[in-house]
Amino acid sequence: MAKQMSLIIIFGIVASLLSMALATPGTATFYTSYVPSACYGNKDNGVMIAAASDPLWANGAICGKVFNVTCTGPTNPVPHPCTGKSVVVKIVDHCPGCGGTLDLSKEAFATIANPVAGIIKIDYRQ
Ligand SMILES: *[C@@H]1O[C@H](CO)[C@@H](O)[C@H](O)[C@H]1NC(C)=O
Repeated sequence: MAKQMSLIIIFGIVASLLSMALATPGTATFYTSYVPSACYGNKDNGVMIAAASDPLWANGAICGKVFNVTCTGPTNPVPHPCTGKSVVVKIVDHCPGCGGTLDLSKEAFATIANPVAGIIKIDYRQ
């Protein structure tokens, strides 16, 4: 029984290390006009949403994918932008020539960082 418990604990540790390893570093900006979107036209998807930059867009294959996004630090002189929270967003739009990896809704951005920062470093995970 004790042996099974420790196996479960080891498995849990390995699984959480793997999921951390799958987090990808990037940058995030924010936007405020959500409809229409490149993925869903005039359908409203709420505000916990994001737009994918060109390298992630993949002709729309990323539409509807859900990402857990964490602020990891500043990219500019706003010294401590991160709130310490993470946010789960759904990709609903394309952001061609975007300044960051993900363009978050202002609401999603404000959950993880001070919007005054404008652009932040993130980790994101599907
Ligand atoms: C998102 O990631 C953070 C940090 O890794 C974690 O604490 C949080 O539980 C995750 N949220 C969801 C909904 O997966």
